[in-house]
Formats: sequence, C-alpha cells, structure tokens
Amino acid sequence: MQHTTEPIACIFDLDGVLVDTAVYHYKAWKQLANSLGFDFTEAQNEQLKGVNRMRSLDMILQWGGIEKSSAEKDVLAAAKNEQYVAMIQKMTVAEVLPGALDLLTALQAKGIKIALGSASKNSSLILERTELAHFFDAIVDGNSVSTSKPDPEVFLKAAELLGAEKENSVVFEDALAGVQAAIAADMMVVGIGKAENLPGAQVVINDLSEITISEIEALRTR
Ligand code: BG6
Ligand code: MG
Repeated sequence: MQHTTEPIACIFDLDGVLVDTAVYHYKAWKQLANSLGFDFTEAQNEQLKGVNRMRSLDMILQWGGIEKSSAEKDVLAAAKNEQYVAMIQKMTVAEVLPGALDLLTALQAKGIKIALGSASKNSSLILERTELAHFFDAIVDGNSVSTSKPDPEVFLKAAELLGAEKENSVVFEDALAGVQAAIAADMMVVGIGKAENLPGAQVVINDLSEITISEIEALRTR
C-alpha cells in the first residue's frame, strides 16, 4: 500500500478535549432537569457529550418523560445556556486540559494545520477566556453547522477550510457522537477518555499529554 506524504491536519473538539467544560454542561443540565422534577445518570450524561444544545434538551426531556412545545423548549435551552455561560465566563487558562497547550504549540511550530470542530455555540467565548484562539487556522462550531454530531458535517467543513484531505485528517474527540462523526467523515480519530465509552476510535488516551506528533502521524499507516 502506498502512503501519502501530505502533512496531517488536526481537528480538535473543544469541550472535554481542550478545555474542562464538560462538567459545566453537566451541572447546568442537571440543574434544569432537577427544576423540572427529575434527574439523570452519569451514563445518560455521557450520551449528551458532543450533542448540540437543542438535541441535548430533547434527550433530557425524553428521559424525564416530559413534553414541551417548541417555544417552551427555546426558553428552557436559553435558561440552561444562561447558567452555563455564567460558569464559563469565569474560566481561565488553568482550565485548559493536560497536554493541550503543549500539543497545540508543537503542532503549530511544525506548521501542521489546526481546526476546531465543535458543536458549541459558545466556542469563541471559551477560546478567548482560555487564550487558545490564536492556535486555530479554522474554526467550525455550532454556529456554522446545521446538523449535530454524529453527522460528519462539522469535520468535513473543518477539513475543507484547512484544505486537507480526509485521509490526512485526525480528529480528537471525547464524545461517542464525535467519534461516530469522525468515522462517518472517513477520518482518523483519537478518543479522549475511557475506551469502553469510545468504540471505533483508533486509539484512546486519557488526555493529550499521552500522544506525540509522531504517534499522530503514524495513525495513517494503521
Ligand atoms: C458540545 C458539548 O461540545 O457542545 C455538548 O459536548 C453541548 O455537551 C454542545 O451540548 C453544545 O454546546 P453549547 O455551548 O452550544 O450549548
Ligand atoms: Mg467534547
């Protein structure tokens, strides 16, 4: 088999990969569910990761056996986001996850293209608070896509903006929906978290400190 000599391109999910925001999403959704008189489990919360705001709300309401009109859902989603934004507004660089800064710095120094591929509509605030914005050659987030992960749209757009072929694109994801989106995009995928939560990822690591650029490049030959 002939292997390409094109450089790789890296597409990073944001929440739970670069920054420690998953806990804030969880807190804000839990608060909302509790205010409606029910709760959900950590395993259910795992299913929310990577999923956009409205789809997450639909899933939570379904778990609680609650039906709401579209207008009521807009109000609930806005209330959750208000809680969430109040938390992320106080974020600092200290909430950048282990290894993220070093890896982004090394990739940039090597001239490897970097994109964000996130479902979040709050990505610009988070990147600004955590001082990560300057690393990205392209940003695709919840404001620029019409479908939610596991649909591949977000990663396909990111690769297109970078001018990268899918076979040279590596996605970094902490969510099952995100891993599925990367697979649907026909890209390589590094899972961040527990292997049992991320079937389909080529390699699963605890955080970005556990992978080097050579190991990322070597994924192409696997
Ligand atoms: C993803 C998170 O990155 O963004 C999800 O994993 C979240 O939990 C989604 O629902 C949308 O985020 P936001 O900031 O637009 O509500
Ligand atoms: Mg994530």
